[in-house]
Amino acid sequence: IQKSDKKFLLIKHAAELVTCAGPAPKAGAAMAEMGIITDGALLAQDGKIIWVGKTDELPEVDQAQCEIVDAAGRCVLPGFVDSHTHLVFGGYRADEFFWRLGGLPYLEILERGGGILNTVKATRQATKEELKALGRQRLDAMLAMGVTTVEGKSGYGLDCETELRQLAVMDELNREHPVDVVPTFMGAHAIPPDYKGRTDEYVDFIIDEVLPAVAEQGVAVFCDVFCEKGIFSIEQSRRILTAAKALGLKAKLHADEIVSLGGAELAAELGACSADHLLQASDAGISALGTSGTVATILPMTAFCLREPYARARTMIDSGTAVALATDYNPGSCFSHSIPLVAALAATQLGMTAAEIVNALTINGAAAVGAAHRVGSLEVGKEADLVLLEYPSHQFLVYHAGMNIVSKVIKHGKVVW
Ligand code: NIG
Ligand code: FE
Repeated sequence: IQKSDKKFLLIKHAAELVTCAGPAPKAGAAMAEMGIITDGALLAQDGKIIWVGKTDELPEVDQAQCEIVDAAGRCVLPGFVDSHTHLVFGGYRADEFFWRLGGLPYLEILERGGGILNTVKATRQATKEELKALGRQRLDAMLAMGVTTVEGKSGYGLDCETELRQLAVMDELNREHPVDVVPTFMGAHAIPPDYKGRTDEYVDFIIDEVLPAVAEQGVAVFCDVFCEKGIFSIEQSRRILTAAKALGLKAKLHADEIVSLGGAELAAELGACSADHLLQASDAGISALGTSGTVATILPMTAFCLREPYARARTMIDSGTAVALATDYNPGSCFSHSIPLVAALAATQLGMTAAEIVNALTINGAAAVGAAHRVGSLEVGKEADLVLLEYPSHQFLVYHAGMNIVSKVIKHGKVVW
């Protein structure tokens, strides 16, 4: 890709320009609204959107100063926000996938010292440069699927040094790569072997030593906890996230993924930005998320890979909760960053409409990472982060099942893919 040095970006004749405009996050019935403009156009200056409307109403602009993209026959969407990934890790765990298919449960593999702890071993051994090279390749692959902002979690170090190394890698990638990386500290992802049977002491270690170092270096925006039976309890999760909030980090939670523990309720109580997974969220938990304005982030590829029941997206949306969709890209429970597969599963397994899926992958994903004021919709003042599809309608995102139909990606007003 030859990067242009033009001041303006001009998109015109989009068959469909899907703005996703409106207050964020979009909850419940508002998720049906996409703000489609036919024969749409968009003008950006220095990376920011300055005008959106119909092509025949475009304001006068010096074409010599414009990079012009003819979007005839194309659908133009806000860049996708993958609001939940674990993209910096060493090693792979292909064997485990097949053990699970053979009937060994995910949590049992972890209990036996495999699972996340396997990746911890490999990540501790990897140098910063190795992790960064892997991270860069993964971001390239995500960008090719239209992702312009991604959240990434630490949590494969479980010691101060490696956790900080993972976060430093994300910080550098954020600066160097076109995709924006929002970093999340997830030291409470599993209990490291040297703390086995002493989870409370590990929680103390996170709160007393790791969190303060993370906050001091300013390398994380969010703190997340794997709140799960046999991992971190509701009370331990509450302690960690309360301490994180006191240090200025925002809260996220891996909630009710495999066992219904009350994680959704806890996320709502803490005013978390998002509660994620929610396969087993209770009715009370779902309604609490709606009331607190916490985004319910659903990760259908994880349910697919673990062969667990899907989250109740329909109940959530119909009861007024804001739903985001993300990949959960990681080497264990979901080794895929496929936005098209997420979209296909959301339609066929979660019963979401195409409009709900588009909003869930853009504006609501942005809200889930606290960035909806900057990205996630095509509105004046926001970043010119856009995706062009090879087809004229957003429907093809679902209909062309599992296929990557992204034809062009624009980040901060520049064609980057
Ligand atoms: O979101 N559940 C905990 N964490 C990840 C999986 C991480 C892994 O297996 O490496 C998840 O599913
Ligand atoms: Fe996850």
